[in-house]
Amino acid sequence: MELHIGCIPGDGIGPEIVGEARKVLDRVAEKFGHTIQYTEILLGGASIDAHGVPLTEEAIEAAKSSDAVLMGSIGGDANTSPWYKLPPQKRPEAGLLAIRKALGLFANLRPAVLYDELAGACPLKEEISKAGFDMMIMRELTGGLYFGERKTTVENGIRTAVDTLTYNENEIRRIAIKAFDIAMKRRKKVTSVDKANVLDSSRLWRDVVNEVAKDYPQVELSHMLVDNCAMQLVKDPAQFDVILTENMFGDILSDEASMVTGSIGMLASASLNDTSFGLYEPSHGSAPDIAGKDIANPIATILSASMMLRYSFDLSAEADAVDNAVKQVLKDGYRTSDIMSEGCKKVGCREMGALLAER
Ligand code: NAI
Ligand code: MG
Repeated sequence: MELHIGCIPGDGIGPEIVGEARKVLDRVAEKFGHTIQYTEILLGGASIDAHGVPLTEEAIEAAKSSDAVLMGSIGGDANTSPWYKLPPQKRPEAGLLAIRKALGLFANLRPAVLYDELAGACPLKEEISKAGFDMMIMRELTGGLYFGERKTTVENGIRTAVDTLTYNENEIRRIAIKAFDIAMKRRKKVTSVDKANVLDSSRLWRDVVNEVAKDYPQVELSHMLVDNCAMQLVKDPAQFDVILTENMFGDILSDEASMVTGSIGMLASASLNDTSFGLYEPSHGSAPDIAGKDIANPIATILSASMMLRYSFDLSAEADAVDNAVKQVLKDGYRTSDIMSEGCKKVGCREMGALLAER
């Protein structure tokens, strides 16, 4: 198969971690008989330096004509980088929001996985970390409270602010279908999270999810209220496979879930639209504090590349090979400094990439 991958190294540690992910992808291609064509795309600070703006039309076109995009991360140190002297709409982050919008990415997937070897980093009780967990949070990305009408008024000297939470059934249906499709490739369980005891938007959410579930008889669906879900993530995270939820609930719950793994350098993410296209990037930022030092952990980016193989190219054996290489390298005792523990072998970014490619 021929894979056309748009590649956004970005800023800070971005070029280093994307370089290692490409090393692993190239090895997968060699092993499984694929060819990869990369198109380099500038975004964020790198684009500001080259073109004066964080995103160009050319970059959007290049992303659109790729099958999928792999990204490092963008942005710099807000206190010292000249990019942050620019008005907000010209800063690196504006480019990221604009490209997500231009590509119609409405589904944000964030896996939260606790690896046996890293259980020590998990802040939860030992009996919970021992059981491990592997969940996928699917967050709706373009609707709800963050995109609804908002206003602030003043009456009799008292300020009132209103934000509107709007969803139509088509927006709910398309993300629900994505969640069920992904559950079919996993343990076939969906937990839909809402606040249906209070909110109309949540009652519609629940109705539509129930309708979609009829097309997936093999998938076990349950509904959970968001406040309960926040508790369950800490109490018994192993119960979850796919968590499906709206924009703001997903924003909060995915940060909570990622923190209970204890390892930010290990967490991948994907943003999908209604085609097989996706933008794949680590959950962490550009870590300007450690950029250029060859100490960043490339695993989150490499696992994002694995999600790309699985979800945009439907290459599950290839994706499994990458995921297994990560497990193996941890088992073999190699660690970058962010996940280092006693008795392990400390390696840099480049060496970690090489070890993974080898496996
Ligand atoms: P950050 O995630 O870049 O860093 C937080 C801490 O985690 C730092 O101490 C960093 O050294 C460490 N860290 C992050 N990734 C690591 C890795 N792979 N290996 C080892 N250590 C790692 O978050 P921060 O400092 O809040 O943001 C830095 C810049 O990144 C900002 O400009 C921010 O806007 C941007 N950012 C970009 C994102 C994106 O491109 N999607 C997402 C989040 C932040
Ligand atoms: Mg957040």
